[in-house]
Amino acid sequence: MKRQLCRIDESPLTEIIDFGMQPLGNGFLEPHNFPNEYFFPMEIGFSEKSMMVQLLEQPEPEKMFHDHYAFYSSTSSFMTRHFKDFASQVMDSGYLAEKAPFVVELGCNDGIMLQNFAERNIRHLGIEPSLNVAQEANKKGVATCSEFFSEDLADAIVRDHGQADAFLAANVMCHIPGIVSVVKGISRLLKPGGIVMFEDPYLGDVVSKTSYDQIYDEHVFLFSALSIRHLFEMHGMELVDLQPQKTHGGSMRYVLAHRGAREVKKPVEAILAREKEQGLDQLETFQQFRKNVERSREQLVSLLTGLKREGKKIAGYAATSKSTTILNYCGIGPDLIEYICDTTPIKQGKLSPGMHIPVVPYERFEKEPPDYAFLFAWNHAEEIMAKESGYVAAGGKWIVHVPEVKVIG
Ligand code: TYD
Repeated sequence: MKRQLCRIDESPLTEIIDFGMQPLGNGFLEPHNFPNEYFFPMEIGFSEKSMMVQLLEQPEPEKMFHDHYAFYSSTSSFMTRHFKDFASQVMDSGYLAEKAPFVVELGCNDGIMLQNFAERNIRHLGIEPSLNVAQEANKKGVATCSEFFSEDLADAIVRDHGQADAFLAANVMCHIPGIVSVVKGISRLLKPGGIVMFEDPYLGDVVSKTSYDQIYDEHVFLFSALSIRHLFEMHGMELVDLQPQKTHGGSMRYVLAHRGAREVKKPVEAILAREKEQGLDQLETFQQFRKNVERSREQLVSLLTGLKREGKKIAGYAATSKSTTILNYCGIGPDLIEYICDTTPIKQGKLSPGMHIPVVPYERFEKEPPDYAFLFAWNHAEEIMAKESGYVAAGGKWIVHVPEVKVIG
């Protein structure tokens, strides 16, 4: 049902953008699934009180994070390095107790971050409701629990393992509609001097780059420092540091602690001030964002249809969840994009959600390079463009849509 009130504090929500009926971002499927393909009306709204951007309607979590969830974090070498650095920061910053520290990660996926703690024999627990990815984590020596996190689960963890020194999450918190129960659970699970560190795609980047493809069924919230501060303050916690990240095209790492437990670092004030300058607390900013999204769609459709008229061959590079929003919102199907290459075996041989563009093994891109490759994994542009320099040298061109629609190469 369409929400009228904010999930954080029940303040009124104002609709910002209607993306129409959208399938699941990660809902790659086979033709026999077409008749039952799931669509939901995707709209985002904003509350001027909580400053939280959020989906007005969202599928049940069980529809998205199930036993055949197709996203494995460790497919990118850049992300593997990123999480090794994240883990090192937690281990080396004096956040953990000297004796038997305990680290909990929410949504540990295939163990990409916790494996670094497992290797150093640090007590840990990964909470991962998708059984297939949790099993991958277990293979790396990572201990997991396949349940959704809540206040009750927090109490059970405290009973069985004690309170946590660190509570971590990456690209998970923004997925959780019942985030209030999660924050309450965190405050019970965390030791008095414990630390919460989590990162998610950052609203400030989404607005400044018009990267509206960060909006899809799984991303129920788009966080800013302002909205996170508001949410955690409501539950006795304090924002103590902010660390901007390059991942996912611009993310923010939020560091929080029990109120008064830790020193508030300098970036907090500076970034909160910058967000106010950018207007992340103002409805008008999001009305302008909607206009930018509409303009981006017009430019993209006009570029692709123009190239197709010239007889050019266009393929997609990486079958990302993000691409589902672009393809369905802009109405781009197999008539414009012949195939999408991807390195993930369980996506290969399937069709893209909603628009049904074939997803093929990466090797097809090498064998039959298209004239133009739409870089759906634009957040990995550096890594991909470096390894595909031969594609451009042979005359291939990239299409990117952020921060503006353009052709590179
Ligand atoms: P990501 O941007 O993390 O996806 P999402 O929007 O779903 O969060 O990209 C992951 C997808 O991109 C995954 O399906 C694998 C694919 N991919 C490639 O095919 N080749 C690559 O070089 C990279 C980096 C990703």
